[in-house]
Order: sequence, then C-alpha cells, then structure tokens
Amino acid sequence: MRIGVFDSGYGGLTILKALHSELPDYDFVYLGDNARAPYGTRSFDVVYEYTLEAVKCLMERGCDLVVLACNTASAKALRSIQQNDLPQLGSEKRVLGVVRPTVEVIGQYTKSRKVGILATEGTVASRSYSIEIGKLAPDVEVYEQACPMWVPLIENNERDNEGADYFIRKYTSELMSRCADIDTVVLGCTHYPIIKRRIEECLPPTVRVVEQGGIVARSLKDYLRRHGEMDARCARNGQMEFLTTESEEKFRKAAADFVGIEIKQIKAISL
Ligand code: DGL
Repeated sequence: MRIGVFDSGYGGLTILKALHSELPDYDFVYLGDNARAPYGTRSFDVVYEYTLEAVKCLMERGCDLVVLACNTASAKALRSIQQNDLPQLGSEKRVLGVVRPTVEVIGQYTKSRKVGILATEGTVASRSYSIEIGKLAPDVEVYEQACPMWVPLIENNERDNEGADYFIRKYTSELMSRCADIDTVVLGCTHYPIIKRRIEECLPPTVRVVEQGGIVARSLKDYLRRHGEMDARCARNGQMEFLTTESEEKFRKAAADFVGIEIKQIKAISL
C-alpha cells in the first residue's frame, strides 16, 4: 500500500516534500488535478465531486490512506467523504486533511492570540478555520482573508512579476488593516508556500508566517505511530509516483521550479 497525496494542482507538492522528508522510506503517489484547478472558487458540490473522483483514483492505485493536501478540499469535501463515501469504499481505507493538524498546533504559535488565515475563497467561505480554532483555542481571534488571485497566478507560472506583487500586497494589507495585532499568519492554502518569501516581505517583520508542510508531516507520522496496522501495510521503497490531469512535461517543470522535486515517474490521466 502507498500513501496518496491529492491537490487541485501544484500546491500539494509543498506538503509532499515535507512528507517525504519526515517519512523518507515511505512510498507516495501524488495526484494533481491541474486541468481543473483552481478549486478555490468552485461550489461545494463541485469540489466534493472532483475530490471524491481523485480519492477513488488514488485508492484504485493502492492508496488506502489518502491525504487531501489541499485546504479547499479538506474544508469542503473531507467530512462528506468520510461520512458518506468511506463506508462503501472500504473499512480499511482512510482520508485525512490538512486543516485539522494546523488548527491543533496554532494556539502554540501566537502570543497576541490574534491569528490571520490566508486562504482561497472556498476555504474562507466554509469558515472551517474559525470554527475549528474556536473549538480548540477559543481565546484566539481568527481573521480569514480570501486571496482568490494567488492560485491562478501560481498555476500559470505568473508569480514573479509586478502583477503578482500587486495582488500579494493587496491581500496582505487587507488582512493587516483588519487587526494590527495579528502576530501569526497561516498560509491556509498549500500553494502559498511557493510565494512565501514575497508574502513575508509584505507583512510586518513581527508577524510569523506559518506554512503547513512540517505540521502535516509530523501529524501523519504521529497518525502512523498510533495506527500500527495501517503503518505495517505501507510500502517502504522511498518511491514517489506522480499523476496529473494536465501535461506531464508542464508538471515535471513546475515541480522542479516550484519545490525542487525531481520527477522520475509521471503519468497523465483523466478523472
Ligand atoms: N492548494 C489548494 C488549497 O490548499 C488550492 C485550491 C485551489 O485550487 O484553488 O486550498
């Protein structure tokens, strides 16, 4: 059995990289639905339908454990898949997300107890971060800021120009104008670490910018430690296979440029 990692596009590669570095012996299959990205502006029903197709595709390829390395899918589809679909897909199968592990640790990062979340429109509209942080760290005030232009800019490799700069300044300043005491900003979309340096430059130097890769990787390691039966079934050849619904060449180049992953095995598929 291999561990499946899913994102609408390239963003989940930032999570995969951290998973591979925390669990270097494990085998992973990454699926990017690049042809249909971005998901962030799509309706609940569409994100659910697309995410379920991706989960089934990974499960058919032997991934009984799938990580939704996408906040939008985690916020809008994870619970429905766990409740409605997993019972039919098989009792030994599991799907995990990235919102919960982030929320579990965020209280340890903030001193001012004021946290900003930069995310897609879909994630912000779901209010998943506000709701979940409200349960685990009720004294923390949460400010969610939608950044609808960032994923399209990254997916189209337009992240290093004046147009991108304009939108990075715009959303970061909109967030900080709502509360100057924010001391922690979560990159609540797995694409955003690809532009992290520019985001940091646009925020006050006192603000700590938190990306999810390490958090999700430590959480998965802990999950496998607690679920020995799942861990025992995981193949350990240190291999990564990639699937994309777009062009193999574009994906190979983006993986190298964005996160420095060199791809050996890649296949274009349709969902
Ligand atoms: N990486 C996805 C996320 O974490 C991006 C969603 C999109 O495709 O808009 O939300």
